[in-house]
Amino acid sequence: MTASFPQARLRRTRATAWSRALHREVLVTPADLIWPLFVTEGRGVEDPIASLPGVSRWSVDGIVAQAKQAIAVGIPCLALFPNTQPERRSPDGAEALNPDNLMCRAIRAIRDACGDDIGILTDVALDPYTSHGQDGLIDDAGYVLNDATVEALVGQSLNQAAAGADIIAPSDMMDGRIGAIRDALEGEGYANVQIMAYAAKYASAFYGPFRDAVGSRGLLKGDKKTYQMDPANAEEALREVELDLAEGADSVMVKPGLPYLDIAFRVKQAFGVPVFAYQVSGEYAMIEAAVAAGAGERDALVLETLLAFKRAGCSGVLTYHALHAARLLHG
Ligand code: PBG
Repeated sequence: MTASFPQARLRRTRATAWSRALHREVLVTPADLIWPLFVTEGRGVEDPIASLPGVSRWSVDGIVAQAKQAIAVGIPCLALFPNTQPERRSPDGAEALNPDNLMCRAIRAIRDACGDDIGILTDVALDPYTSHGQDGLIDDAGYVLNDATVEALVGQSLNQAAAGADIIAPSDMMDGRIGAIRDALEGEGYANVQIMAYAAKYASAFYGPFRDAVGSRGLLKGDKKTYQMDPANAEEALREVELDLAEGADSVMVKPGLPYLDIAFRVKQAFGVPVFAYQVSGEYAMIEAAVAAGAGERDALVLETLLAFKRAGCSGVLTYHALHAARLLHG
């Protein structure tokens, strides 16, 4: 039983800044942020991504400099994505297994320069390496093969773990991949390498700028609807999460972010495990477009969206605004 007006005036606690601070239910801190970065070949290269204004691809030396900035503002983890040169792409994405590929060189360079001062999360899926832009191996009809892809993903995961990745994050949505990767990591001496499963990943229209960034947009024919989830489905997301947890995921991700907050909330309620949200490239681009159009103020938009993720129950957020947000949070 609660009081009613005028005994109850909910505006009382909102009247002053100190009181609002005192009654705030959730907080965002730099420690909630995972910063996705795009790696490209060369030295001293900064290559701006047109559809992601303010975000660039960096050569490995530049990535190390970004990692140091992240550490300085208290960002605990980076997520790395490679822009693989077209001549290194192939139908089977074999470059993903090359111990000297761009990803592995970036991982090692960060580890050499920064030690354990920052976590390195690596995406597992073949799309940055395939000449057709799909996340796995395809048959003659273009269908993405599940079990053969899982085998390749296991190899890719071990390759990244050997280079020093801390968190393996499979984003491919093949069935059974978490269990296969977990077994392989256990078997090869990487028992402490975590798995953050992109458990509920939707076939979304919000990934366009990312595909530009890794160079797969022009290559991809068709869509990813035979493996990524139907945006209409929420019950199915709970099944996906349940399976990934049963197979050994340490944490789960919901992706995209804001349009799928109901999913993040339900996953947290149902399982009580660490849930992360990926505020994806199209979401970043929407905020930047709003700012450019004079429809909103960047700092306020960014912080409000991050707060929404925390309120929904997320442990953290992957966001291209991470560095900016961390600086804002430091005042
Ligand atoms: C690749 C992958 C994608 C994203 C992360 N990993 C794109 C896709 O599935 O097509 C999207 C991230 C973003 O849009 O920021 N499997």
